[in-house]
Amino acid sequence: MNVSSDRRPIAVFDSGLGGLTVVRALRQRLPHEDIVYFGDTARVPYGSKTRETVLRFSRETCTFLQHMRPKCIVAACNTVSAICLSELESEMPVPVFGVVRPGARAAVEHGQTPDLIAVIATEATVASNAYQAAIHALDASRPVVQMACPLFVHLVEEGFSEHDPIVELAIERYLRSIVRLSPSSVVLGCTHYPMLRDALSAYLGDGVRLIDSGSCTAETVELRLKAMGALSSAETSGSLHFYVSDHPKRFQTIGSRFLGEPVLDVVRIRPEELSAVAPTIDPSLTRASA
Ligand code: DGL
Repeated sequence: MNVSSDRRPIAVFDSGLGGLTVVRALRQRLPHEDIVYFGDTARVPYGSKTRETVLRFSRETCTFLQHMRPKCIVAACNTVSAICLSELESEMPVPVFGVVRPGARAAVEHGQTPDLIAVIATEATVASNAYQAAIHALDASRPVVQMACPLFVHLVEEGFSEHDPIVELAIERYLRSIVRLSPSSVVLGCTHYPMLRDALSAYLGDGVRLIDSGSCTAETVELRLKAMGALSSAETSGSLHFYVSDHPKRFQTIGSRFLGEPVLDVVRIRPEELSAVAPTIDPSLTRASA
């Protein structure tokens, strides 16, 4: 019997609420893992900021998360994953996972040339061409088309139902040129877009596969932790701890929709405290045993 167990938490961060869709996927796949989440709600959105700014914010966040002694860090933000993952990977003492490569892999695995892959994402992610590069690293012959859909983030953050006519109009506006190209799959290259999944699917039609990079990332994290012998063997459900840089109450209310379960226990850490604060750590979050 293998009794090895690594009870250190998985640290997850995003520019705000959207990364909770990745936490949701992690909880489904790894229900016994403790998760600590940071949402930079004071500085969202990242998708319209420069690379330099997003890298600075991400470094500050990772410094903060190191206080939790995580076994790995998941950059659950497509924008961060697209424009500064390599710096974080080389600077952090634990593995750092992004969401772009797993999403690209899932897209390539579905279909073959000349099937078109469409990527919808924030402006920064599209401008970085990171999805296109990751797809072409796996299959250089796959045609890829990209479209920035910046309004989707705001509609989701504002709590619009995906069946609201305004949401339907925005989908039509952004995706009408894509739908004419008949893609075989559409990568949801932004943490917020899985919240519009049904409406996007209704507009794109049954034949189009929607790739949720969050659930592909959860699979990657599981495989890697398994290979490292770093899975938790706890028998109880993993704990969830949330930190945000602003509006903990708002995060709690809207976050439950993203997470699919109640968001409790949200602590505020202001951006200027990120690099300095050593928070009081729940001992259950730092236990690492073998
Ligand atoms: N989390 C971001 C992403 O996945 C979307 C929100 C933002 O622009 O910060 O790209």
